Amino acid sequence: MSNKNNSKMEEQTLVLIKPDAMLKGLAGCVITELHSLGLKMIGLKLVNVKKELAEQHYCEHKEKPFFEKLIKHITGEFHNKENVIAIVYKGENAIKKARELAGATHPEDAHPTSLRGKYGRVHSKTDCFENVVHTSDSKESAEREIALWFDKKELVE
Ligand code: PPS
Repeated sequence: MSNKNNSKMEEQTLVLIKPDAMLKGLAGCVITELHSLGLKMIGLKLVNVKKELAEQHYCEHKEKPFFEKLIKHITGEFHNKENVIAIVYKGENAIKKARELAGATHPEDAHPTSLRGKYGRVHSKTDCFENVVHTSDSKESAEREIALWFDKKELVE
């Protein structure tokens, strides 16, 4: 018997492995943990993030006091100009699953078994959240972010 509701729950999400994680050599283990979610990877690339892409990605936080820090972080300014790995996952409840694995935004609030709880920190000198990954927070954000980071033809479905 086919379950028509299953296809309704299929969604895509964007995961960014941030420069702090790249500098620490954590990309492999982050991808291994993401694999445990049972989602399908349909896009992946290494990106040298320029200011323009960073500002577009985080446009909704433009007025926030931490905006400049956010841009410096994702462009690798705090981490030896490190790159970012951008990945698109597809699957049932992909957005919620990836966010749960990532953990709370502030690494000190994140559950100890989450990616941010395990590998994140707040840098005491810069006050930057070195929080390992970004994951889309809603279906609308995921659609916007995936279109920003990937051409349609780069996604393998
Ligand atoms: S808000 O105010 O609730 O909308 O903000 P929030 O969703 O918590 O955070 C938005 C993104 O800003 C990042 N952030 C920071 N990065 C570096 N340093 C500091 N101090 C900082 N404060 C917030 C936070 O990690 C979110 O980015 P992503 O990439 O989605 O994790």
